[in-house]
Amino acid sequence: MPKVADLDHRHLWHPFTQQLDWCREEPLEIERAEGTDLIDAEGRRYIDGVSSLWCNVHGHRHPLIDRAVHDQLERVAHSTMLGLTHRSAAELAARLVEIAPPGLSRVFYSDSGSTATEVALKMAFQYWRQRGGQHARRTSFVSLRDGYHGDTLGAVSVGGIDLFHAAYSPLLFDAHRVDAGDASQLERALDFHSEEVAAVIVEPLVQGAAGIRVQPPGYLRRVRELCDRHDVFLICDEVATGFGRTGTMFACEQERVAPDFLCLGKGLTGGYLPLAATLTTERVYDGFLGAAEDGRTFFHGHTFTGSPLACAAALANLDAFKTESTLLRLQPKIRLLGELLDDLAAMPEVSEVRGRGFMAGIDLGEHHPSVRLGHQVILEARRRGAIVRPLGDVIVLMPPLSISKADLRRLVEIVADSIRAAFAAAYGEVAAIDALPEPDTEELPVQRAA
Ligand SMILES: Cc1ncc(COP(=O)(O)O)c(C=O)c1O
Repeated sequence: MPKVADLDHRHLWHPFTQQLDWCREEPLEIERAEGTDLIDAEGRRYIDGVSSLWCNVHGHRHPLIDRAVHDQLERVAHSTMLGLTHRSAAELAARLVEIAPPGLSRVFYSDSGSTATEVALKMAFQYWRQRGGQHARRTSFVSLRDGYHGDTLGAVSVGGIDLFHAAYSPLLFDAHRVDAGDASQLERALDFHSEEVAAVIVEPLVQGAAGIRVQPPGYLRRVRELCDRHDVFLICDEVATGFGRTGTMFACEQERVAPDFLCLGKGLTGGYLPLAATLTTERVYDGFLGAAEDGRTFFHGHTFTGSPLACAAALANLDAFKTESTLLRLQPKIRLLGELLDDLAAMPEVSEVRGRGFMAGIDLGEHHPSVRLGHQVILEARRRGAIVRPLGDVIVLMPPLSISKADLRRLVEIVADSIRAAFAAAYGEVAAIDALPEPDTEELPVQRAA
């Protein structure tokens, strides 16, 4: 049998990955998983410290979700939502409406976080066009600097991370960008442009891909008020923050905000299968009603939109939230994570720790990209039994909500040890930048980004 590593290096192309670097290293092959552990082909266990890209909620091989997927397989794996319906999709829609902020009564399925935001953008745009008159001028969007909403071109157009997005600028539509957390900037942007703005799109409370950047309390509430004042839609992209990540089912709840569009993905199926949903209001839905020849139909849909298997997993995910009191049991773990991170923030190698709920970013400061410090930290963590991911030189911690307190402690301990080890390897034993005597700092071989 050919080795996975050989096949991988010969034929695969990995996401968000410089393949030259990738092919210099032996890939880690995950073969199976149990609870919050990933297990490699040699049987070594690793704590899944990033919830398999921020989506796993109740752990892997969860009996309730496994059984629901098996049961659905016994009926049908896939049939289309174009012209047909099925029980899992319909029941899930009703359950999502039940738990979503008030007023969100319609569910449009797709298959990734990117498509969930793409759908919201297109619906908002089309809604205003169909209103006609002055409203038809509402064709642009306001988004946040350093925002991330996915990798399809609409989502990239409202994204704000230059490293990911700048290369595509000739392909993108314009969006007005404002700094996250500064409501007065948004106020000015809307005072100036509101008549041409279809919607404001935000990641509520926390900008994940920006490096876990947290907005000040009251900001989201203010964004909602400003949108109301100008009759502009608010799109809350809860692809990352949804399903308990920030401590409540949805981040919006913490500021008692109900958006006009709520984008869900990742944790929707407990992290099992690709499924996304864009929830919206009756007002938006009604704006698309009319005779076929009126041209008000929303012409958007993917082959696997509302896949029965994925919907079955999503229903079981919601059941698990109930039967296991996931959100209640999460609260003491959030407090523990906060305490553990306070200790980590005191490390001289760490410049800042940011986070909310079960989303944390450990910022190691600026280092020359060639050092690949974040990457070195995750390799060290792997040797010690944890999988974590860097965003540049920010180490992201986002364990499944079901992680035990003991494993949470071990995860943070591993990360702390890995940071020390990576600094020592990169800069020698005297690695702690802030601990160095002031006059010597510039003489030391510490590399910082220009
Ligand atoms: C806030 C947010 N929106 C959208 C996306 C895109 O989701 P997907 O990778 O499923 O397309 C992500 C992914 O990380 C995200 O964090």
